[in-house]
Amino acid sequence: MVSRVIPVDPFDLVIFGGTGDLARRKILPGLFRRYCAGQMPPESRIIGAARSDFDDADYQEFVAEAIREFGGGRACEDGTLEAFLERLSYVPVDARGEAGWTELAALISGSTLVRAFYFSVGPSLFGDLAERLHQHGMADEHCRIVVEKPFGRDLKTAEALNATLAEHFDESQIYRIDHYLGKETVQNLMAVRFGNLLFEPLWNSQYVDHIQITVAESVGVGGRGEYYDKSGAMRDMVQNHLMQLLCLIAMEPPSKFDPGAVRDEKLKVIRALDPVEPHHIVRGQYSASDDGPGYRDAVGDPRSTTESFVAMKVGISNWRWAGTPFYLRTGKRMVDRCSEITVVFKARNHSIFDEVQGQHRNVLTIRLQPNEGITLGVTIKEPGPGGMRLIDVPLDMSFAEALGEDGGDPPDAYERLIMDVIRGNQTLFMRGDEVEAAWAWTDPIIEGWNKRGDVPKPYDSASTGPGDSDQMLARDGRTWRPVSP
Ligand code: BG6
Repeated sequence: MVSRVIPVDPFDLVIFGGTGDLARRKILPGLFRRYCAGQMPPESRIIGAARSDFDDADYQEFVAEAIREFGGGRACEDGTLEAFLERLSYVPVDARGEAGWTELAALISGSTLVRAFYFSVGPSLFGDLAERLHQHGMADEHCRIVVEKPFGRDLKTAEALNATLAEHFDESQIYRIDHYLGKETVQNLMAVRFGNLLFEPLWNSQYVDHIQITVAESVGVGGRGEYYDKSGAMRDMVQNHLMQLLCLIAMEPPSKFDPGAVRDEKLKVIRALDPVEPHHIVRGQYSASDDGPGYRDAVGDPRSTTESFVAMKVGISNWRWAGTPFYLRTGKRMVDRCSEITVVFKARNHSIFDEVQGQHRNVLTIRLQPNEGITLGVTIKEPGPGGMRLIDVPLDMSFAEALGEDGGDPPDAYERLIMDVIRGNQTLFMRGDEVEAAWAWTDPIIEGWNKRGDVPKPYDSASTGPGDSDQMLARDGRTWRPVSP
């Protein structure tokens, strides 16, 4: 099956932080892949803006290297890369000073192309950038700005950031990225739920026993120790990525697949989340192993009490979900890289077969990464004579196999999201009130840990996290799904 590529309108994209890690690994290689796919019109321009004293040629060389390293090896040989590089220029800009702003304004003034500014910089610079864009006449009502997580570190800072951006931009111009929403399979959650009649009638506490959301990573904190130690898994993963997954799984069907309707429904879920009791949450921190240093060595603080793992039981107080627990789990240095959502349905309330009641139940697993696909556990008769014995077997669908080669190689999350910015489609971006509501729910949990002087439980690298996480489910008579892709 050949995937359709619909070109976007020609654009000017200014990347503040254009020489940074995110630009190098994701944004620039992603733009190149969209160029190769024919989605980025050739008259578009990409302007790197950062403090480095580069000229256009230096920047083009920087981008060429980034593409060779992270571009997926496509089309570098046949002149496509050279043609793409011609679309690139660079302006040295000081976010906090005057340098570079007049030159940047001169470069893009008079252009009638779609205009977007990517703030690929720390949030402390958002206000300065917004102010300078305004002063130099670049922040007109048609432009868009793209901002990255972390969007604040608590409700107060998120509110302050929202207020700062709101001084110069309307909410309809602000694209807050949560790259999980750009993942093909995360969008598939909505397609599976709302594109099939089969699931939605059963999608409630009457039929669903519980739901598990696991985002397990096998890597540790790597070179990001300084940032990570101030955040921890709660701020780095739960407040945003896991919260978004929870919203997509739990929300009411939006009236339309449009930004207002989808984001309204997600917001209602976040606002209906119960506060989390301390005994319904487990924090962990990975220990050293033969494969690498423990968390504290990795971040260079022998006393760090930041968590690299969180497991929690979450309730949603609304008509659909009251009584159905959601178990969330994420961690670094776990046994495998595996992100999936599992919906465990209730046992049938009566069985005509001679079986242990409750032994067989349907389980729907949506695998987000790797091996993207869906598995539905169904109960059938064990083959052969000797009576009606039941067994559970998987109806297994791999998206890559089902969609063939082209469908199996979808755009990376950043590619999709940047193209959505150019199209002016905010559906897959977080609205300001959503981010604030997520912090309002997260803050008391973190404050509780701080007040109690909570210390995370150590766990072995390449494990499924601290034993307390298994015990939390065992107390409810449940078990976690294996962490295996
Ligand atoms: C980022 C977090 O937002 O998501 C990282 O800051 C994490 O700590 C990453 O590793 C996970 O993303 P992915 O796409 O690899 O699942």
